[in-house]
Amino acid sequence: MRLGKFYRRHLRYPLWRLTHPFTRYEAYYAWVVTQKLKRGRKHPAIGPHAYAARGEREMIDVLLRHGLQPQQVVVDYGCGSLRLARPLVEFLAPGKFWGLDLAQDFLDAGLVHLGPALHGEKRPNLRVIDDAGLAAAKTARPDVIAAWHVLGKVPDQIFEDFFRNIVGLMHPGTRAYLQFEDTPTRRQLHGLAWSIPRQMLLDTLARIDPGLRVTIHEIKHNRHRGIRYVYAEVGY
Ligand SMILES: C[S@@+](CC[C@H](N)C(=O)[O-])C[C@H]1O[C@@H](n2cnc3c(N)ncnc32)[C@H](O)[C@@H]1O
Repeated sequence: MRLGKFYRRHLRYPLWRLTHPFTRYEAYYAWVVTQKLKRGRKHPAIGPHAYAARGEREMIDVLLRHGLQPQQVVVDYGCGSLRLARPLVEFLAPGKFWGLDLAQDFLDAGLVHLGPALHGEKRPNLRVIDDAGLAAAKTARPDVIAAWHVLGKVPDQIFEDFFRNIVGLMHPGTRAYLQFEDTPTRRQLHGLAWSIPRQMLLDTLARIDPGLRVTIHEIKHNRHRGIRYVYAEVGY
């Protein structure tokens, strides 16, 4: 393993933890990405160089297949800098889009990505994930919650809390669509990303609320890497 890769996988987090003993893990994720952007390095998903490798319609096309309507309230949970959100903001009626993420810097970059005309016309709600942001999004009574390329960024120590936040936004009519990389056992894919065995997700959701119904839909199976690209459809 190269030194840089070894540092990112095994040393960076324990070293950060030493100097931030009481800070939440989410701040570590935001710090790593922000440092990278500040150094002018490209991040594939966040900031000025974000690039939608599977196309920016990747998320909205799934939601449309499940019957998304313009008047529905949609939360893009872990929206980053809105790489996959623009077609959604365009499709939805004004004020119906909610983008939630860990850092205001990412949301600000999202506004640049949308541009002032679309922002002015559709007035998306962009909020940091904290008590106030979650409460505001819950009050909007989301019909749909979508999280694309987010679940894999959640390590074991905050795994259940992450899903509690999402379930906390749901009412009996909400459908959540949660994309993840499914493997038979949990695997670290890179310094900040893990696969999720589907049973781990099913068990976690059942612990949080046994009334939830979950269906796993497969998008693609990469036999070479042993990874199924899937999303969970979650509702009551
Ligand atoms: C790879 S980016 C994807 C962003 C966006 N969904 C997209 O596809 O363009 C992962 C995003 O998940 C967010 N994220 C990471 N950990 C999270 C957590 N525990 N709760 C909520 N969001 C998180 C990050 O801040 C980041 O914006």
